[in-house]
Amino acid sequence: MTDVPVLRSPDGQVLLRAHRGSDAPAVEEQSQDPDMQRFTTIPVPYGPEDAAGFLEHVAGMWASGTGAAWAIEVAHRFAGTVDLRFGEDWASIGYGLAPWARGRGVMTAAVRLALDWGFVERGLVGVRWEALVGNHASRRVAEKCGFLVEGTARGLSVARGVRHDAWIGSLLATEWRAGRGVSADS
Ligand SMILES: CC(C)(COP(=O)(O)OP(=O)(O)OC[C@H]1O[C@@H](n2cnc3c(N)ncnc32)[C@H](O)[C@@H]1OP(=O)(O)O)[C@@H](O)C(=O)NCCC(=O)NCCS
Repeated sequence: MTDVPVLRSPDGQVLLRAHRGSDAPAVEEQSQDPDMQRFTTIPVPYGPEDAAGFLEHVAGMWASGTGAAWAIEVAHRFAGTVDLRFGEDWASIGYGLAPWARGRGVMTAAVRLALDWGFVERGLVGVRWEALVGNHASRRVAEKCGFLVEGTARGLSVARGVRHDAWIGSLLATEWRAGRGVSADS
């Protein structure tokens, strides 16, 4: 089994750890959320077999070296996932949080931890972010973490067979090292 690094936010409130089989019910519950269904590519409807498949998939990312995926834990409770999908010396980032944990900086803290690991430990040169146009919460998280939103790519994203325009952005290791993204006020 791959050793998944455990990461903790400076205030100790947000923990990133390996996913566990026991996260399945919470993964399934989170995936019923309309924003998860609207803004990500998860299957709809989403059942227990989808949650089991997801947990297998994230374990496989570590095992195959194709990516890094962490379960986000808040107050000892599974709260969501943040992942880096590797491509050469760049990665793309993805994230989703359970509705109960939203709106108090949890994902911003989780993304910062994943980015710091990616840039410092994994030696990434840059990280790409994309979100469906209109996903303001995702964009705000990306911007607070230092991403530069570079524009709109027409028809870039396909979710359940439908093509959508996407906002795209990036963050470079040089910018991260210069403090971009960690100096934001929240
Ligand atoms: C995107 C998501 C991960 C944000 O998680 P979160 O923990 O609530 O994020 P944070 O609290 O760290 O930051 C959210 C920011 O977005 C802002 N925000 C939230 N909803 C917003 C909206 N509809 N319009 C504008 N800003 C919004 C918040 O005010 C906050 O900014 P602030 O700190 O300046 O006030 C969460 O909403 C989610 O899981 N959404 C569904 C899945 C998804 O969209 N994933 C990303 C796919 S690219």
